[in-house]
Amino acid sequence: MQTDILVIGSGIAGLTYALKTAQQMPDKKITILTKTQSDETNTKYAQGGIAGVTDFDHDSFQKHIEDTLIAGDGLCNPHIVEIVVKEGVERINELIAWGAQFDKDPEGDYKLGKEGGHSENRILHHKDVTGKEMERALLEAIKKSSNIELINHCFVLDIITQHHLGYLVTKSTPDIECYGVYVLNLSTNKIEKIIAGITMLATGGNGQVYRSTTNPAIATGDGVAMVYRAKGRIENIEFIQFHPTALYEAGVRGHSFLITEAVRGDGGILRNAAGEAFMERYDERKDLAPRDIVARAIDNEMKINGTEFVYLDCRHMNQQNFREHFPNIYEKCLSIGVDVSKDMIPVSPAAHYSCGGVKTDEYARTSVKNLYAAGECASTGLHGANRLASNSLLEAMVFAHRAYVDTVKYFETAPSNVERIFPDWNTAGTSAPKEMILITQSLKEMKLLMSDYVGIVRNNERLQRANRRIDLLHEETEHLYEHTEVSPQLCELRNMITVSYLIIKSAELRKESRGLHFNTDYPEKQTILQNTIL
Ligand code: FAD
Ligand code: SIN
Repeated sequence: MQTDILVIGSGIAGLTYALKTAQQMPDKKITILTKTQSDETNTKYAQGGIAGVTDFDHDSFQKHIEDTLIAGDGLCNPHIVEIVVKEGVERINELIAWGAQFDKDPEGDYKLGKEGGHSENRILHHKDVTGKEMERALLEAIKKSSNIELINHCFVLDIITQHHLGYLVTKSTPDIECYGVYVLNLSTNKIEKIIAGITMLATGGNGQVYRSTTNPAIATGDGVAMVYRAKGRIENIEFIQFHPTALYEAGVRGHSFLITEAVRGDGGILRNAAGEAFMERYDERKDLAPRDIVARAIDNEMKINGTEFVYLDCRHMNQQNFREHFPNIYEKCLSIGVDVSKDMIPVSPAAHYSCGGVKTDEYARTSVKNLYAAGECASTGLHGANRLASNSLLEAMVFAHRAYVDTVKYFETAPSNVERIFPDWNTAGTSAPKEMILITQSLKEMKLLMSDYVGIVRNNERLQRANRRIDLLHEETEHLYEHTEVSPQLCELRNMITVSYLIIKSAELRKESRGLHFNTDYPEKQTILQNTIL
């Protein structure tokens, strides 16, 4: 199959980019691939909303820039922060023009929420299901675009580069080029080649490498692993953001329900097992301190008290307002026997967001030619060592737009197609999988070691242990991969082991504590600021 533009991923980044390129270049064919259903994305689960300066009476670009820089703890790229904050407003307006609806007050002004690290109320939201509303609006707009084909259940295995033409490709090869992808079509169970002029990687996050995460099952870091295998650059991937307040449900681990930070923005208070409002002991901003601080404080309280959760107390809040702003949370809590007007909500931190990823420039270009990356899989320089809440949907839209601008330029001067013969996927020496246990057990081990050794608080010994264990899992999984027919389960395991390795390696290289990376053997910050690039 040939396409002009190939988009991998149907979350906010992939859909925004596809819509824009389709509208601007109606003669180009745009193909979107997604590994499950089109709306099964991290985007769909976003609750709090999208940050943006819309109320210029109280807020300003400068304040949003400063809040982002403070949260990022010295590692944000100030130029990128300015781009995102200033261009973000236009992107939000485009989203509204595509049909996304955000809550308004009776006067018709947007109701602006507040979350940790924000000095002003600036978060547009659709009750507590903002991502679902955005995904709905974008998918409806995509359906109306005749030059976009969206194909579900297509698992991208690898990007095609010169390596597949028989050339030696290493990290120092100049001009590594992307020509498309190999994909396992789950409808036919066949591995196909899709050749594309431009490829956009919008594969989302990697929360599934941890035992407890707010991310759905699709978030397995496939894009990052593919780029690393293709010898592209990965940056700052040690900075994994743990959301302080995932709903604690005994026995539920793989995909935890989020209790949005906006609940604390509206007055929710964290309490420990003794009922004490403990955040004032950790930070003067109390419950609305940036996420790294709140998550570490909760982790510490749980360890001191030997509990698996703390409480979020909403009993004092106006209950009618709570039900209006957070109907989804209200219903979910009720379904497990927690009435927020009478009971405190049990919460614990869960892996939530990957601040690093595929290194990109200000036009979302990766180190691999003709390959863009946007959204959570990318490392743009916006988040630095810790992402400010509700900045990621904004970032995804801004860089999807910038990639689109660059793509239009590319096609204005694109060289005529060079005929290249790419080999078919090589299945020699593989046979049907004998036992799923070889995959599922390794998956459990990986999640456990990442949660226990490479979580909110790290130290050298834990990282060394993690390194040794991931090496073994890597070796066993590569052996399995070489001898077994590919399946999404096997490929996701392989990708997650690669991503785990990258997180551990980057964490070992960072000999300091900064933002989301806290190593008790190096509790201070280094004076030299540097990104970790692998
Ligand atoms: P996603 O939306 O995750 O989409 C990834 C896509 O890639 C999917 O379509 C998937 O099928 C596809 N894909 C992946 N691998 C492959 C493969 N191998 N082959 C084919 N397709 C593949 N951010 C905010 O700014 N505000 C919020 O309020 C907010 N709340 C959040 C709440 C939750 C519970 C979570 C989990 C995240 C939240 N975030 C929030 C973060 C934000 O939602 C994500 O960072 C963002 O939606 C990521 O968008 P994306 O387009 O990069 O990827
Ligand atoms: C939340 O609603 O608390 C999540 C916001 C985010 O991750 O940006």
